[in-house]
Amino acid sequence: VKPELDEGPIFDLMSAHMQTRLTEIGLRLGLFEALRQAKTLDELRLEVSIGRRAVEVLTTALASFGLVLLTPGERAELTALARAYLLEESPFYKGDLFALIAREEMELLRKVYLQDGQRRAVTSQWLAGRVRDPQVQGSGTHANTFAAACALSAQLRFTRPMRLLDVGGGVGSFSIALALNHPEVRCVVLDLPQMEQTARQWIERYRLGDRVDFIGTDMFGDWPRGQYDAVVFSNVLHNWPDRRSELLAKAFAHLPSGGRLLVQEVLLDDAKDGPRAAALWSAMILLEMDGQQMSLPELSRHLQAAGFGAAERVATFGAYSLVSAEKAG
Ligand SMILES: C[S@@+](CC[C@H](N)C(=O)[O-])C[C@H]1O[C@@H](n2cnc3c(N)ncnc32)[C@H](O)[C@@H]1O
Repeated sequence: VKPELDEGPIFDLMSAHMQTRLTEIGLRLGLFEALRQAKTLDELRLEVSIGRRAVEVLTTALASFGLVLLTPGERAELTALARAYLLEESPFYKGDLFALIAREEMELLRKVYLQDGQRRAVTSQWLAGRVRDPQVQGSGTHANTFAAACALSAQLRFTRPMRLLDVGGGVGSFSIALALNHPEVRCVVLDLPQMEQTARQWIERYRLGDRVDFIGTDMFGDWPRGQYDAVVFSNVLHNWPDRRSELLAKAFAHLPSGGRLLVQEVLLDDAKDGPRAAALWSAMILLEMDGQQMSLPELSRHLQAAGFGAAERVATFGAYSLVSAEKAG
Protein backbone atom coordinates (compact mmCIF):
# COMPACT_ATOMS: atom_id res chain seq x y z
CA VAL A 1 0.00 0.00 0.00
CA LYS A 2 1.61 3.27 -1.01
CA PRO A 3 0.44 6.65 -2.37
CA GLU A 4 1.09 7.16 -6.08
CA LEU A 5 0.89 10.95 -6.15
CA ASP A 6 2.71 13.71 -4.27
CA GLU A 7 0.51 15.06 -1.44
CA GLY A 8 2.12 18.54 -1.66
CA PRO A 9 -0.70 20.21 -3.62
CA ILE A 10 -3.26 19.08 -1.02
CA PHE A 11 -1.07 20.33 1.83
CA ASP A 12 -0.84 23.68 0.02
CA LEU A 13 -4.64 23.90 -0.18
CA MET A 14 -5.05 22.94 3.47
CA SER A 15 -2.47 25.45 4.74
CA ALA A 16 -2.91 28.37 2.28
CA HIS A 17 -4.91 30.44 4.78
CA MET A 18 -1.98 30.31 7.21
CA GLN A 19 0.23 32.19 4.75
CA THR A 20 -2.28 35.02 4.57
CA ARG A 21 -2.79 35.02 8.34
CA LEU A 22 0.90 35.02 9.21
CA THR A 23 1.64 37.86 6.78
CA GLU A 24 -1.23 39.86 8.27
CA ILE A 25 -0.05 39.10 11.81
CA GLY A 26 3.40 40.39 10.80
CA LEU A 27 1.82 43.58 9.46
CA ARG A 28 -0.47 44.14 12.45
CA LEU A 29 2.38 43.62 14.92
CA GLY A 30 4.50 46.17 13.08
CA LEU A 31 7.10 43.47 12.52
CA PHE A 32 8.07 44.65 9.04
CA GLU A 33 8.45 48.23 10.23
CA ALA A 34 10.55 47.00 13.17
CA LEU A 35 12.84 45.20 10.72
CA ARG A 36 13.63 48.33 8.74
CA GLN A 37 17.02 47.81 10.41
CA ALA A 38 18.33 44.27 10.90
CA LYS A 39 17.75 42.98 14.44
CA THR A 40 18.37 39.89 16.56
CA LEU A 41 15.27 37.81 17.25
CA ASP A 42 15.37 38.91 20.88
CA GLU A 43 15.51 42.60 19.95
CA LEU A 44 12.65 42.06 17.53
CA ARG A 45 10.41 40.25 19.97
CA LEU A 46 10.91 42.94 22.62
CA GLU A 47 10.07 45.65 20.09
CA VAL A 48 6.83 44.00 18.93
CA SER A 49 5.98 42.53 22.38
CA ILE A 50 5.73 38.84 21.56
CA GLY A 51 7.25 35.70 23.08
CA ARG A 52 10.34 33.77 22.07
CA ARG A 53 8.46 30.89 20.42
CA ALA A 54 6.25 33.29 18.46
CA VAL A 55 9.19 35.31 17.13
CA GLU A 56 10.97 32.13 16.02
CA VAL A 57 7.88 30.67 14.36
CA LEU A 58 6.86 33.94 12.70
CA THR A 59 10.29 34.83 11.31
CA THR A 60 10.78 31.27 10.04
CA ALA A 61 7.41 31.40 8.28
CA LEU A 62 8.01 34.88 6.83
CA ALA A 63 11.47 33.78 5.69
CA SER A 64 9.91 30.79 3.93
CA PHE A 65 7.54 33.23 2.13
CA GLY A 66 10.55 35.29 0.93
CA LEU A 67 9.75 38.30 3.14
CA VAL A 68 12.47 38.02 5.81
CA LEU A 69 16.09 36.97 5.60
CA LEU A 70 17.54 35.06 8.57
CA THR A 71 21.29 35.43 8.99
CA PRO A 72 23.79 33.87 11.42
CA GLY A 73 23.61 35.06 15.03
CA GLU A 74 19.79 34.80 15.01
CA ARG A 75 19.48 38.03 13.06
CA ALA A 76 16.57 38.95 10.83
CA GLU A 77 16.25 41.57 8.09
CA LEU A 78 13.74 42.43 5.39
CA THR A 79 14.05 41.13 1.85
CA ALA A 80 13.76 43.52 -1.10
CA LEU A 81 10.23 42.12 -1.68
CA ALA A 82 9.06 43.10 1.80
CA ARG A 83 10.74 46.53 1.53
CA ALA A 84 9.02 47.17 -1.78
CA TYR A 85 5.49 46.18 -0.74
CA LEU A 86 5.11 45.82 3.03
CA LEU A 87 6.62 49.04 4.41
CA GLU A 88 4.09 51.84 4.75
CA GLU A 89 6.50 54.41 3.33
CA SER A 90 6.64 52.50 0.04
CA PRO A 91 4.60 54.03 -2.80
CA PHE A 92 3.54 50.48 -3.64
CA TYR A 93 2.49 49.46 -0.11
CA LYS A 94 0.13 46.47 -0.18
CA GLY A 95 -0.33 45.83 3.51
CA ASP A 96 -3.89 47.18 3.40
CA LEU A 97 -4.89 44.19 1.28
CA PHE A 98 -4.42 41.90 4.30
CA ALA A 99 -7.51 42.53 6.39
CA LEU A 100 -9.02 39.20 7.41
CA ILE A 101 -8.26 39.17 11.15
CA ALA A 102 -10.85 40.93 13.32
CA ARG A 103 -9.63 43.39 15.97
CA GLU A 104 -10.76 41.16 18.88
CA GLU A 105 -9.03 38.14 17.40
CA MET A 106 -5.82 40.10 16.92
CA GLU A 107 -5.97 41.16 20.58
CA LEU A 108 -6.33 37.51 21.60
CA LEU A 109 -3.40 36.53 19.41
CA ARG A 110 -1.29 39.36 20.83
CA LYS A 111 -2.17 38.69 24.48
CA VAL A 112 -2.30 34.89 24.50
CA TYR A 113 -1.21 32.96 21.45
CA LEU A 114 1.89 34.99 20.65
CA GLN A 115 3.14 34.96 24.25
CA ASP A 116 5.28 32.37 26.03
CA GLY A 117 4.36 30.43 29.13
CA GLN A 118 0.67 29.89 28.41
CA ARG A 119 0.00 26.20 27.86
CA ARG A 120 -2.37 25.56 24.99
CA ALA A 121 -5.64 23.77 25.77
CA VAL A 122 -4.83 20.65 23.74
CA THR A 123 -1.48 20.20 25.49
CA SER A 124 -3.01 20.76 28.94
CA GLN A 125 -5.66 18.14 28.21
CA TRP A 126 -3.08 15.61 27.02
CA LEU A 127 -1.05 16.25 30.19
CA ALA A 128 -4.18 15.61 32.23
CA GLY A 129 -4.58 12.31 30.33
CA ARG A 130 -7.55 13.48 28.26
CA VAL A 131 -8.38 13.78 24.57
CA ARG A 132 -11.18 16.20 23.66
CA ASP A 133 -12.68 14.13 20.85
CA PRO A 134 -10.87 10.86 20.07
CA GLN A 135 -12.67 10.35 16.72
CA VAL A 136 -11.87 13.85 15.47
CA GLN A 137 -8.29 13.82 16.76
CA GLY A 138 -7.74 10.31 15.39
CA SER A 139 -9.04 10.95 11.90
CA GLY A 140 -7.10 14.25 11.76
CA THR A 141 -3.76 12.72 12.74
CA HIS A 142 -4.39 9.74 10.45
CA ALA A 143 -5.07 12.04 7.47
CA ASN A 144 -1.86 13.86 8.29
CA THR A 145 0.36 10.82 8.70
CA PHE A 146 -0.83 7.77 6.77
CA ALA A 147 0.29 8.58 3.21
CA ALA A 148 3.79 9.50 4.40
CA ALA A 149 3.99 6.43 6.64
CA CYS A 150 2.92 4.14 3.78
CA ALA A 151 5.47 5.70 1.40
CA LEU A 152 8.17 5.35 4.03
CA SER A 153 7.20 1.74 4.83
CA ALA A 154 7.49 0.79 1.18
CA GLN A 155 11.10 2.08 1.25
CA LEU A 156 12.15 0.20 4.40
CA ARG A 157 13.76 -3.25 4.32
CA PHE A 158 13.80 -5.56 7.33
CA THR A 159 16.02 -8.65 7.41
CA ARG A 160 14.37 -10.20 10.48
CA PRO A 161 11.11 -10.06 12.43
CA MET A 162 10.76 -6.73 14.19
CA ARG A 163 8.78 -5.57 17.20
CA LEU A 164 8.07 -1.85 17.43
CA LEU A 165 6.70 0.39 20.16
CA ASP A 166 4.87 3.34 18.54
CA VAL A 167 4.79 5.98 21.31
CA GLY A 168 2.06 8.62 21.06
CA GLY A 169 0.97 6.52 18.11
CA GLY A 170 -2.54 8.00 17.80
CA VAL A 171 -4.80 5.57 15.95
CA GLY A 172 -1.76 3.57 14.87
CA SER A 173 -1.25 5.19 11.46
CA PHE A 174 2.51 4.58 11.41
CA SER A 175 2.17 1.01 12.73
CA ILE A 176 -0.66 0.14 10.34
CA ALA A 177 1.41 1.38 7.38
CA LEU A 178 4.40 -0.64 8.52
CA ALA A 179 2.44 -3.82 9.21
CA LEU A 180 0.63 -3.61 5.85
CA ASN A 181 3.92 -3.50 3.99
CA HIS A 182 5.90 -5.90 6.21
CA PRO A 183 4.28 -9.17 7.34
CA GLU A 184 7.21 -9.84 9.70
CA VAL A 185 6.58 -6.66 11.72
CA ARG A 186 4.57 -6.49 14.96
CA CYS A 187 3.70 -3.19 16.62
CA VAL A 188 2.35 -1.95 19.91
CA VAL A 189 0.71 1.48 19.73
CA LEU A 190 0.94 3.43 23.00
CA ASP A 191 -1.47 6.36 23.38
CA LEU A 192 -3.87 7.73 25.97
CA PRO A 193 -6.58 5.28 27.13
CA GLN A 194 -9.34 7.38 25.54
CA MET A 195 -7.84 6.67 22.10
CA GLU A 196 -8.16 2.89 22.44
CA GLN A 197 -11.59 2.35 20.90
CA THR A 198 -10.90 4.62 17.92
CA ALA A 199 -7.45 3.13 17.37
CA ARG A 200 -8.80 -0.43 17.44
CA GLN A 201 -11.41 0.55 14.82
CA TRP A 202 -8.66 1.88 12.53
CA ILE A 203 -6.49 -1.21 13.12
CA GLU A 204 -9.46 -3.51 12.38
CA ARG A 205 -10.29 -1.60 9.20
CA TYR A 206 -7.03 -3.07 7.85
CA ARG A 207 -7.56 -6.45 9.62
CA LEU A 208 -4.31 -6.09 11.52
CA GLY A 209 -5.57 -6.88 15.02
CA ASP A 210 -3.25 -9.91 15.25
CA ARG A 211 -0.11 -7.84 14.60
CA VAL A 212 -0.89 -4.32 15.78
CA ASP A 213 -1.86 -4.01 19.44
CA PHE A 214 -2.83 -0.94 21.49
CA ILE A 215 -1.90 -0.04 25.04
CA GLY A 216 -3.70 2.88 26.66
CA THR A 217 -1.35 4.60 29.06
CA ASP A 218 0.44 7.88 29.75
CA MET A 219 3.71 8.02 27.81
CA PHE A 220 5.24 10.07 30.63
CA GLY A 221 4.49 7.21 33.05
CA ASP A 222 5.68 3.59 32.86
CA TRP A 223 5.91 2.06 29.40
CA PRO A 224 4.79 -1.54 28.84
CA ARG A 225 7.49 -4.10 29.51
CA GLY A 226 8.54 -6.15 26.52
CA GLN A 227 11.24 -6.74 23.97
CA TYR A 228 11.25 -4.00 21.32
CA ASP A 229 13.66 -3.70 18.41
CA ALA A 230 12.62 -0.13 17.70
CA VAL A 231 10.81 2.76 19.34
CA VAL A 232 8.87 5.11 17.04
CA PHE A 233 7.99 8.75 17.64
CA SER A 234 5.89 9.96 14.72
CA ASN A 235 4.90 13.63 14.98
CA VAL A 236 5.36 13.49 18.74
CA LEU A 237 8.70 15.06 19.67
CA HIS A 238 7.74 18.45 18.18
CA ASN A 239 4.99 18.81 20.81
CA TRP A 240 7.16 18.49 23.90
CA PRO A 241 10.11 20.91 23.86
CA ASP A 242 10.40 20.83 27.65
CA ARG A 243 9.89 17.05 28.03
CA ARG A 244 11.63 15.78 24.90
CA SER A 245 14.69 14.57 26.80
CA GLU A 246 12.45 12.62 29.20
CA LEU A 247 10.76 10.79 26.30
CA LEU A 248 14.09 10.06 24.60
CA ALA A 249 15.59 8.77 27.85
CA LYS A 250 12.66 6.35 28.21
CA ALA A 251 13.13 5.15 24.63
CA PHE A 252 16.84 4.61 25.26
CA ALA A 253 16.14 2.66 28.46
CA HIS A 254 13.56 0.41 26.74
CA LEU A 255 15.70 -0.51 23.74
CA PRO A 256 18.27 -3.31 23.72
CA SER A 257 21.79 -2.63 22.43
CA GLY A 258 21.54 -2.35 18.67
CA GLY A 259 17.89 -1.23 18.94
CA ARG A 260 16.77 1.72 16.83
CA LEU A 261 14.93 4.92 17.42
CA LEU A 262 12.73 6.00 14.47
CA VAL A 263 11.50 9.59 14.33
CA GLN A 264 9.05 10.67 11.65
CA GLU A 265 8.85 14.47 11.43
CA VAL A 266 8.57 17.38 9.01
CA LEU A 267 11.95 19.02 9.59
CA LEU A 268 13.06 22.63 9.23
CA ASP A 269 16.21 23.22 7.26
CA ASP A 270 19.39 24.06 9.18
CA ALA A 271 19.06 27.84 8.66
CA LYS A 272 15.42 27.62 9.88
CA ASP A 273 14.14 29.67 6.94
CA GLY A 274 12.07 26.89 5.40
CA PRO A 275 10.90 24.69 3.88
CA ARG A 276 7.49 26.33 3.79
CA ALA A 277 5.63 23.17 4.85
CA ALA A 278 7.70 22.82 8.04
CA ALA A 279 7.33 26.54 8.76
CA LEU A 280 3.55 26.31 8.36
CA TRP A 281 3.35 23.25 10.64
CA SER A 282 5.16 25.22 13.35
CA ALA A 283 2.71 28.08 12.90
CA MET A 284 -0.31 25.78 13.10
CA ILE A 285 1.14 24.24 16.27
CA LEU A 286 1.76 27.73 17.73
CA LEU A 287 -1.95 28.50 17.53
CA GLU A 288 -3.12 25.17 18.99
CA MET A 289 -0.50 23.37 21.05
CA ASP A 290 2.88 23.61 22.72
CA GLY A 291 5.96 22.99 20.60
CA GLN A 292 7.32 23.67 17.12
CA GLN A 293 9.12 21.83 14.33
CA MET A 294 12.86 21.16 14.68
CA SER A 295 15.84 21.22 12.35
CA LEU A 296 17.99 18.11 11.93
CA PRO A 297 20.92 19.55 13.96
CA GLU A 298 18.52 20.31 16.84
CA LEU A 299 16.96 16.86 16.74
CA SER A 300 20.39 15.19 16.43
CA ARG A 301 21.61 17.05 19.51
CA HIS A 302 18.63 15.74 21.50
CA LEU A 303 19.19 12.16 20.31
CA GLN A 304 22.87 12.26 21.13
CA ALA A 305 22.22 13.79 24.54
CA ALA A 306 19.97 10.80 25.27
CA GLY A 307 22.83 8.41 24.37
CA PHE A 308 21.92 7.46 20.79
CA GLY A 309 24.50 7.27 17.99
CA ALA A 310 24.69 9.53 14.95
CA ALA A 311 21.31 10.44 13.47
CA GLU A 312 20.61 9.39 9.89
CA ARG A 313 18.00 11.26 7.86
CA VAL A 314 16.11 10.04 4.83
CA ALA A 315 13.64 12.31 3.03
CA THR A 316 10.63 10.04 2.64
CA PHE A 317 7.48 11.60 1.19
CA GLY A 318 6.08 15.09 0.79
CA ALA A 319 7.69 17.21 3.46
CA TYR A 320 8.41 14.23 5.74
CA SER A 321 11.71 12.74 6.85
CA LEU A 322 12.60 9.66 8.82
CA VAL A 323 15.44 10.19 11.26
CA SER A 324 16.90 7.08 12.84
CA ALA A 325 19.59 6.48 15.41
CA GLU A 326 20.99 3.36 17.07
CA LYS A 327 21.52 2.50 20.69
CA ALA A 328 25.12 1.35 20.36
CA GLY A 329 25.97 -2.18 21.51
C1 LIG B 1 0.39 14.79 16.86
S1 LIG B 1 -0.33 13.31 17.41
C2 LIG B 1 0.64 12.08 16.56
C3 LIG B 1 -0.09 10.78 16.35
C4 LIG B 1 0.64 9.76 15.51
N1 LIG B 1 1.88 9.36 16.10
C5 LIG B 1 0.82 10.27 14.10
O1 LIG B 1 1.95 10.47 13.66
O2 LIG B 1 -0.20 10.46 13.43
C6 LIG B 1 0.25 13.18 19.09
C7 LIG B 1 -0.31 11.99 19.82
O3 LIG B 1 0.24 11.96 21.13
C8 LIG B 1 -0.77 11.49 22.00
N2 LIG B 1 -0.46 11.88 23.38
C9 LIG B 1 -0.47 13.13 23.88
N3 LIG B 1 -0.15 13.10 25.18
C10 LIG B 1 0.04 11.80 25.50
C11 LIG B 1 0.39 11.14 26.72
N4 LIG B 1 0.60 11.82 27.85
N5 LIG B 1 0.53 9.79 26.69
C12 LIG B 1 0.31 9.09 25.55
N6 LIG B 1 -0.02 9.68 24.37
C13 LIG B 1 -0.15 11.02 24.35
C14 LIG B 1 -2.03 12.13 21.48
O4 LIG B 1 -3.21 11.50 21.95
C15 LIG B 1 -1.81 12.00 19.97
O5 LIG B 1 -2.36 10.82 19.48
